[in-house]
Amino acid sequence: MKVIVTRNYEEMCQKAARIIAAQVTLKPDSVLGLATGSTPVGIYQDLVKKYQEDRLDFSEVCTVNLDEYIGLDRENPQSYRYFMNHNLFDHVNIPKQYTYVPNGLSSDPEDECEDYELLIQQLGGVDLQLLGIGGNGHIGFNEPAESFAEETHVTNLTASTIEANSRFFGEGEEVPKQAITMGIGTIMQAKKILLVANGESKAQAIYDTLYGPVSPNCPASILRFHQDVTVIVDEAAFKKVTEQQ
Ligand code: PGA
Repeated sequence: MKVIVTRNYEEMCQKAARIIAAQVTLKPDSVLGLATGSTPVGIYQDLVKKYQEDRLDFSEVCTVNLDEYIGLDRENPQSYRYFMNHNLFDHVNIPKQYTYVPNGLSSDPEDECEDYELLIQQLGGVDLQLLGIGGNGHIGFNEPAESFAEETHVTNLTASTIEANSRFFGEGEEVPKQAITMGIGTIMQAKKILLVANGESKAQAIYDTLYGPVSPNCPASILRFHQDVTVIVDEAAFKKVTEQQ
């Protein structure tokens, strides 16, 4: 794994956006695997800036998102489809019909998972997968478990993830308890992976990912078996590693 430590969140975002921009420049018809959450927001802002100021061209790009809540409409501001439109897709020249997010309202979520897995294959696989990480080491919504989930699947969110995500929901709004997520196997098939993390709340997860046992207790630790992973973290997220050195 290549690890880049940055001074702060802004620098983490700039470096990540540069890597994504380089990918799109080198292969204009890239399939980008994208992530939601607070971590990538600044990265998407930088990409929008690169589109507006440097004419970074997304016209041939295709995107597949990691996950989506079950039960939320695409127009619901808490849905990941809404997040992606709002933070990136509405502001660059990417054809919306080539942006894919699992359908959280499918009448048959298991079927939706199979279709999503097939879709990724039909697109030729993901060229560059962007990942955030949960405080518990989850990637996508692959929560700590007894084994690594292979393919796109329906998952029950852990209490800690529901709690972490509740900050995005208003009072009285129920946080979904289930989601559709790419599996660890799906993620591991991406040709390149870019994992980003900032803040001290991610320090233990980053330490476990880089130095703990490779175990489904810390799903991100499996990334050590992938041949092309870049990890970009700010100093706060790297703190536990620094302390051990
Ligand atoms: P966050 O979530 O970026 O909102 O911290 C990351 C994740 O849970 O994967």
